Amino acid sequence: MNDSQLTSLVKDMTLHEKVGQLVQLATPFFKGASDKGQITGPMQEMGLSHEDIENTGSVLGASGAKETIAIQRKHLEDNRLGIPLLFMSDIVHGFRTIFPVPLAIGCSWDLDLAEKSAALAAKEAAVSGGHVTFAPMVDLSREPRWGRGMESTGEDTYLNSGFARSFVRGFQGDLQQDAYKVASCVKHFAAYGAPEGGRDYNTVDMSEWMLRESYLPAYKAALDEGCEMVMTAFNILNGIPSTGNKWLMRNLLRDEWNFDGVLISDWGAVKELLPHGVAQDEKEAALKTLRAGVDIEMMTSYYFKYTSELVEEGLLEESTIDEAVLRILRLKNKLGLFENPYREADETDEKTFILAPEHRNVARELAAKSVVLLKNEQALPLNNNNNIALVGPFANNTDILGPWSWGGSAEDTITLDTGMKHRLNTDHLLIAEGSGIETGTEQQLQEALQTASRADVIVAALGEHSDMSGEAGSRADIRLPEIQLELLKQLKSLGKPVIAVLFNGRPLDVREVIEHADAVLEAWYPGTEGGNAVADILFGDVNPSGKLSMSFPHSVGQVPVYYNQFNTGRPKDAPDAQIRFVSQYLDIPNEALFPFGYGLSYSTYHYSEMSLSTDHITPDEKLTVKVNVTNTSETSGEETVQLYIRDLVGDVVRPLKELKDFKKVTLKPGETTTVEFTIEESQLRYYHADLDYKSDAGEFEVFVGPNSRDIQSRKFKLGNV
Ligand code: BGC
Repeated sequence: MNDSQLTSLVKDMTLHEKVGQLVQLATPFFKGASDKGQITGPMQEMGLSHEDIENTGSVLGASGAKETIAIQRKHLEDNRLGIPLLFMSDIVHGFRTIFPVPLAIGCSWDLDLAEKSAALAAKEAAVSGGHVTFAPMVDLSREPRWGRGMESTGEDTYLNSGFARSFVRGFQGDLQQDAYKVASCVKHFAAYGAPEGGRDYNTVDMSEWMLRESYLPAYKAALDEGCEMVMTAFNILNGIPSTGNKWLMRNLLRDEWNFDGVLISDWGAVKELLPHGVAQDEKEAALKTLRAGVDIEMMTSYYFKYTSELVEEGLLEESTIDEAVLRILRLKNKLGLFENPYREADETDEKTFILAPEHRNVARELAAKSVVLLKNEQALPLNNNNNIALVGPFANNTDILGPWSWGGSAEDTITLDTGMKHRLNTDHLLIAEGSGIETGTEQQLQEALQTASRADVIVAALGEHSDMSGEAGSRADIRLPEIQLELLKQLKSLGKPVIAVLFNGRPLDVREVIEHADAVLEAWYPGTEGGNAVADILFGDVNPSGKLSMSFPHSVGQVPVYYNQFNTGRPKDAPDAQIRFVSQYLDIPNEALFPFGYGLSYSTYHYSEMSLSTDHITPDEKLTVKVNVTNTSETSGEETVQLYIRDLVGDVVRPLKELKDFKKVTLKPGETTTVEFTIEESQLRYYHADLDYKSDAGEFEVFVGPNSRDIQSRKFKLGNV
């Protein structure tokens, strides 16, 4: 259809039909829609009629070609104008082939492989009838207590923005041209990753300056890449729930950023205006969200119940509804649904593509690249002639897919013991559980110690079960559960090398793990191929290259702790600092235990002194930074060379360093390569006190190194100074 046909379709619609397009309901509602009899269950609870269902515009969570085709077919029979349904769901890090959780993907710093993973997820989703994925989630987070940090790529604006673009390209590509794509919905707008105390759904209060500087760019990056949809956040932002926040949704998103795609509420978020205490009843909640420009109400029925009344009473213009409907119809049209309402749903293709070897291979490669080696006192890689004890609650555990992997299944998942058995004569692998995740018995412990005492080396597979992170998965104590720490200590007392492998969804306080293990691998939730990927690293078939995309705190009391902090007026390490009256903790360091960008390898690298092409540029000139990186080990490896910048004097305070670029290099033993970066004026801009985005003439520091801490620096100037 062309746009004028879509506009005339809107004209042909009754108000009820229009409102239906603005509602999204979960799959069970459509399964009962053919039965015109008694209304029961969820329909009754939500006060929905059969006519409401027939006019509803989109479905949440349907999956499988058979199911989606059946629902669509029935709907087209029932819907007076034959407007097809949109099928949406959360394909966050894979559909059936589960890739590592996004926080892990963030640690790969591999934008191309991230894009590839999203493309394969889209392919599996598209053949099973999906049209839109509620991803990418790009909420910047400095909050390890918050359970949903695992859904985002971490704490850095620049890195998150890069991943946001990659994910959108992978999922969505060119919707009208490319095969097997789904539309992207970036979420959660805005600043959902900064809840007070790390408690999910909690208050977010931050200056517009901080919001623009750090939190908004990744959403904007997704939109610049053409992302078709935006989802609101559950939190309040500066006193107003995001879902009813006119400034956020109309002024910023629509007027300033010119977003003309579809805006959807998060699940039940329209209703939540009531407990938030900004709407006195359901009708006012509907009015506020419609006025704020939320096109689709997810999983509540206030739009159905009150929109006609609001229009009749003159509180809401019908044109507001028409605009929202048109945006939704345009998306349906872009997806080609008017011509082919079943799109790429196909049971034969499902069999061909889902869990195809290529998908599993990418899942394995990406998982291995996401693993971060935190410590290694010559304990890794393992020698497969040794007897290896594999102990701990994740030794043989399929709970390694992580939250938001509803399409994945245990039977497809490669556990760690299976991955290790692929490498090792099984007589050499001794397995014991040792403890559960949060509880355990003395007998389990003793069995594990006995097993471990027969081995040359011990691998302790520890972590959090997947419900300990994800939505509503906040924790105030971010250490491993006590029972697992005890297991680790006891294993260490056997006097053999102990390697801890961690499966979890947040930066943990790992001090005790570091203390009692000779090597520590952060494996996150690595997905379907997790066991193979971790075994690839353990046995040295893959050299670890992951670098943290979120700082690991020294202890929870430091949180939020992030690398790009400000100096304060009393920095601790200033040459003239006093002993006491400086910004510090009396009992712990200020610094993270493992900083952003950190990660070891089986190789060692040497960085030469960096050189600058000039120490002074005008706004039209470029500066080149060069550094030679040498692999000084016997092992080939991949290194991520990172470039940070500090603006020494600003109109407002500037971070001590900010990531501005990075390059991945692969180096054979003894090989040296020159890594080159270009710096130009546009990279030096920031939000001034009046929120103007520009650079200042003045002095800057540029840093290069393997992480945000161990870096060398040089100074340069911009402009006429
Ligand atoms: C989550 C969203 C998700 C939605 C639909 C909500 O609870 O916050 O991220 O997309 O559910 O499943």
